[in-house]
Amino acid sequence: MKAVTQIPLVNLKRQYAAIKPEIDAAIADVVGRQEFVSGKVVAAFTAEWLAALGASYGASCSNGTSAISLALKGLGIGPGDEVVTTAHTFFATVEAICAVGAKPVFADIDPDTYCLDIDTAPIGSSTRAIMPVHLYGTAANMSAVLACAQSHDLKVIEDTAQGHFATWNGKALGTLGDAGTYSFFPGKNLGAYGDAGFVVTKDEAVAVTIAKLLNHGRESKYTHDLMGENNRMDEIQAAVLRVKLKYLRAWTDRRQALAKHYDARLTAAGFKVIRPYPRASSVYHLYVVEVSNRDQTLAHLNTEGIGAGVHYPVPLHLQPALAGWGIARGALPKTEAAADRVLSLPICPDLTDAECDRVCDTFLACANP
Ligand SMILES: Cc1ncc(COP(=O)(O)O)c(C=O)c1O
Repeated sequence: MKAVTQIPLVNLKRQYAAIKPEIDAAIADVVGRQEFVSGKVVAAFTAEWLAALGASYGASCSNGTSAISLALKGLGIGPGDEVVTTAHTFFATVEAICAVGAKPVFADIDPDTYCLDIDTAPIGSSTRAIMPVHLYGTAANMSAVLACAQSHDLKVIEDTAQGHFATWNGKALGTLGDAGTYSFFPGKNLGAYGDAGFVVTKDEAVAVTIAKLLNHGRESKYTHDLMGENNRMDEIQAAVLRVKLKYLRAWTDRRQALAKHYDARLTAAGFKVIRPYPRASSVYHLYVVEVSNRDQTLAHLNTEGIGAGVHYPVPLHLQPALAGWGIARGALPKTEAAADRVLSLPICPDLTDAECDRVCDTFLACANP
């Protein structure tokens, strides 16, 4: 068998090698002080991430899933309420809605952006909120979402787990609605060395409630004025995130340059790629292209040492966990069509130009539009 150089879908080892001294020192500082929870590093990161987003209020938390549940709880959404969202997302989006006792109801997607198409939203008397997911780091149509929310008196919670530094009309995604949530899962554009997440909100009182909820409902050390939970970010994660945040602008620029190169090569060959709205700046957490022979293309890329993925092959309404909900195949035609055709190619910032071209050459040798 011929030896091939591997190009993983996400190359965290290469990223670590580039910033190792700073990361190691930041972790050593926390370990040296033996202050792991509710310390000054989380507080510093919280302030820095809010400043980076241009947001005023928010809280660091344990992961992107708890961030969604905390945002919903903070906004008073719970049992009996419906939340309009998309079925073309990671499972956590609906999991977090269900965790607070609310019910997700699905809109179909806009096939250009793969994000929720608000014109297909099933809004009814129990609807309390809209949760667009800025999938792949590309904005949902936030002008349309906000207009719809306003006319129906609904809250907007943006699942921005994949959209760090992406914008709509120049404003950071996550900061346009009533609340926005982020995941810092290791492979995300800004990734911790474990689980971590964040909630932003426009409302100071909501932020205070969320900060209490994620810390056992604490008002002070031994006074608990809410029935809360333990969903704090820990100090080591915050230390890693503070180092990486300094590089996020440059990493985002690099992702955008790579996406431009992929776009040029793949659209020239007739492939459909993400088409962000003109008002959006996309951060390409994933680079997604549609293919008609996906299994064959994945196998070919794999044989050539190229990590490719599918985000996501099974729409949420067709997941076994939702089988009892009675939503049949055919209910969300654009979501289902996308799930059958999308394929993700490597786009981490450390990918070289030569590697990007090798991915394109290998892909084009096998894939069909
Ligand atoms: C769209 C979306 N929402 C929510 C989450 C949940 O984030 P976490 O894994 O940090 O809980 C993810 C993470 O993969 C995601 O991609």
